[in-house]
Amino acid sequence: MINNFSSAPICIVRTVTDIMFVLYTDIMNETLGSIYGRASVRKYKAEKVPDEDVKEILKAGFHAANGLNRQALEFVVMENKETIQKYSKKGAAIFIEMMKASGQPGPINPPADMFYGAPAIIYVFANPTALTPVEDGSLAVGNMMLAAHSMGYGTCFIGFAAGLGYDEEFRNECKVPEGHSFVACMILGKPDGNIERRPRPEPKVLCWNK
Ligand SMILES: Cc1cc2nc3c(=O)[nH]c(=O)nc-3n(C[C@H](O)[C@H](O)[C@H](O)COP(=O)(O)O)c2cc1C
Repeated sequence: MINNFSSAPICIVRTVTDIMFVLYTDIMNETLGSIYGRASVRKYKAEKVPDEDVKEILKAGFHAANGLNRQALEFVVMENKETIQKYSKKGAAIFIEMMKASGQPGPINPPADMFYGAPAIIYVFANPTALTPVEDGSLAVGNMMLAAHSMGYGTCFIGFAAGLGYDEEFRNECKVPEGHSFVACMILGKPDGNIERRPRPEPKVLCWNK
C-alpha cells in the first residue's frame, strides 16, 4: 500500500516513525535503546571518523567476552580512500570466485561498492592463541556496532569481504602476521540519511521448561 504513495508522504511517515522511535527508546535504558536503535547502514557521509572515536569503538570490541579470556583479537583499520576502493573491487572479485567454487546455487553478487562509501573499514583478525576465533570476533563486532551506534555512527557487517582475509596482497599491505585468521569485517561512518530499521517479529521460543 505504502509503495503507491509519492515520496513526500513516505518522508513524513518515516519522520513520524523516527520521532516515535526516539520517544520509545527514551523510556528504556540506554543499552536497550542502542540494541533496538541499531541497523545496518549502507549510505555514508565521507567525513573522517576521529581517531579517538575509532579507538573507543575498537576498545568496546576488545572488551567483549572471549573464549578462555585469551584476548586474541587484533584489528586492522583502513581509511585511505584509494585503498578502500581497491579492496572493494578485489574483495568482490574474490567473493564471486569463492561462490563459484563452492557450488552455491544461483549467483550472489556483491554491490558495486561492497563498502558503501564508508570512510572507515575495520577488519578483525584472531592471533593463533585464540581458542574460539569466530565466536570472539562475532561478539567483538556486536559490541562495536552497539558502541558505534551509541556514538552516532552507522555500521554494517561485510561478509562479502571474507575472501580478502586470505589474499596475500591484502595481508601484506595490512601487516597481518602469518597464522592470524581473518574473522570479520565491519564498516563505520556517519550515516547519510535516515537509519532504516528492519523490524523483527517476537522471538520464537521452542521450549521454556518451567
Ligand atoms: C555474517 C553477516 C554478514 C553480512 N554481510 C553483509 C554484506 O556483505 N553486505 C551487507 O550489505 N550486509 C551484510 N550483512 C548485514 C545483514 O544483511 C543485516 O544485518 C540484516 O539484513 C539485518 O538487518 P539489520 O542489521 O539492519 O538489523 C551481514 C550480516 C551478518 C551478520
